Amino acid sequence: MCGIVGYIGNKEASPILIDGLKKLEYRGYDSAGIAVYHNESLQITKTKGRLVALEEKLQGNELTGSVGIGHTRWATHGAPSDVNSHPHGNSTQTIAVVHNGIIENYLTLKEELQADGVVFLSETDTEVAAHLVDLYYNQCGDLIDAVIKTMGRIEGSYALGVVCRDHPDLLVAARKDSPLIVGLGKGENFVASDIPAILQYTRDIYLLDDHEIAVVTRDDIKIINRNKEEVKKEIYKVTWDVAAAEKGGYEHFMLKEIFEQPKAVRDTLLPRLPQNKEEIVLDDIKLSQKELEKINKIYIVACGTAYYAGLIGKYLIERVGRIPVVAEVASEFRYRDPIMDENTLLILVSQSGETADTVAAMRRAKKAGARVLGVVNVVGSTIAREADDLLYTWAGPEIAVASTKAYSTQVVAMYLIACHIAMETGKMSTAEFIELRKELHTIPDKIDEILKQADKLKEYADHYMSSKNVFYIGRGLDFAVSMEGSLKLKEIAYVHSEPYAAGELKHGPIALIEDGTLVIGIVSQEELFDKTVSNLREVKARGAKILAIAQEGHTEIEKTADDVIYVPRTHWMFTPILANIPQQLFAYYMATGLGHDVDKPRNLAKSVTVE
Ligand code: F6R
Repeated sequence: MCGIVGYIGNKEASPILIDGLKKLEYRGYDSAGIAVYHNESLQITKTKGRLVALEEKLQGNELTGSVGIGHTRWATHGAPSDVNSHPHGNSTQTIAVVHNGIIENYLTLKEELQADGVVFLSETDTEVAAHLVDLYYNQCGDLIDAVIKTMGRIEGSYALGVVCRDHPDLLVAARKDSPLIVGLGKGENFVASDIPAILQYTRDIYLLDDHEIAVVTRDDIKIINRNKEEVKKEIYKVTWDVAAAEKGGYEHFMLKEIFEQPKAVRDTLLPRLPQNKEEIVLDDIKLSQKELEKINKIYIVACGTAYYAGLIGKYLIERVGRIPVVAEVASEFRYRDPIMDENTLLILVSQSGETADTVAAMRRAKKAGARVLGVVNVVGSTIAREADDLLYTWAGPEIAVASTKAYSTQVVAMYLIACHIAMETGKMSTAEFIELRKELHTIPDKIDEILKQADKLKEYADHYMSSKNVFYIGRGLDFAVSMEGSLKLKEIAYVHSEPYAAGELKHGPIALIEDGTLVIGIVSQEELFDKTVSNLREVKARGAKILAIAQEGHTEIEKTADDVIYVPRTHWMFTPILANIPQQLFAYYMATGLGHDVDKPRNLAKSVTVE
């Protein structure tokens, strides 16, 4: 979602801000702006549209100055427009504020400020923060106190960056429920909402926690709490490379990340499956065997793609671990009254570790006494820090909005967790585990094999390019896989599609099948193969065109399907990770064929940090 970059140092701030914002473009945005201290005043330039539009606006009106804040906005309150873009200022433009998150009580605050004569220029919730800082600054004369007082008034989530004309040597940042980091440089320091924005300048960062304030000057960074007490923070060293956040010769981040999957899966898998140990090494899962034996119910909670990975976890844990599992989207889970106690395990799946609904679900479960296990990709993210137990998916930075390699590694995490639970509770023997481990080791190479069929998938995408409605159907694990396939097509190709349990079609949706409707049949589950093929015949009889994804050797599918993509044979547990790869490529080639920018799909953002 929105991106924040702040700079204070001795170089020109504005190119650093713009460059940092470019590194955050992948998060999705609709407008951009910067504020720079220049000639004893704060100069704000902002515009609707992409960063190129901002650069055009700055041409000939360059802002020179070495302190500033920048922002890319993903509209929540008020349409994308120049005036609604950040930074927002107070009435005299002596204070500028950028904000990620949502100020839930902004209307009450706005009315209160308006009653005092404040004139609002925008429809945003953020402008309230700018005027509040101004109000308290005028009252107390201290910018830090003014920010702290403002934090006390705001309900909701925020990552704030504040600069003030009276303090050209100061950058103030604060957070609650929205990520914010501070980068340590030499004679310069940085603030950002995400690491790629500042990675080319520093690898040393502080991860701010909720209710913390960063007081940043050129030579010093002080992290304080709302009582102005200094908080001692450890420096987090970023180990991944700048190149990991670059396209590396691929046309899109998404394609690069699809092709990175063998490595991402290896990195997630191998450290956990040492050959010399007959166990899964999950260092950050502290749940003891005794505690695990007491768990009588598991919830897997996540959003979007991460939820579909979680669904695979549900099937597997129930089948091999024999514990009831409910998989649910976080936005629903958090607002109903799920039954949880100390014998409940909540597994959260999240690439970013910052998704607002997933974070809220975690806090709710912790309050109810449940044990929380986070499956997270971004190191040091909110879920990574607050969960009781942790399993990192070592996918590396995922830049494309549409999740691919993160999904595959989340599915790997589900394999590890399911096998771990099954072994710890005596439902899986060591011999069974050793067999599975052997097969798991072959998965990265099998993914490589599927990637070699990229050209064939491009051909199929070209062939079916005019489809307006697509059904994805499957049974069991294949049904879970079909949901992810359908989501990918919707979000990047903008083609309407529906995933359906194959056996459920005839209870209604089959009415939508007509001549030429594309049905993608996932038939990778050996034991359900015949059943799903019967359902495919039913749609074929009604005019559907069928593209099937099947395991090698199941050539009888060719009698039913118009086109087939084969994936290498594997154990039934591991078919989802393989069967999904052709779906990713199919969606990618449909989207590029239709001329869409797959890395920045319309209306979408990478990390959904608002409800
Ligand atoms: C789709 C996609 C989203 C995310 C969802 C959860 O390709 O990326 O559906 O999976 O927004 O995000 P995380 O995993 O960061 O919690």
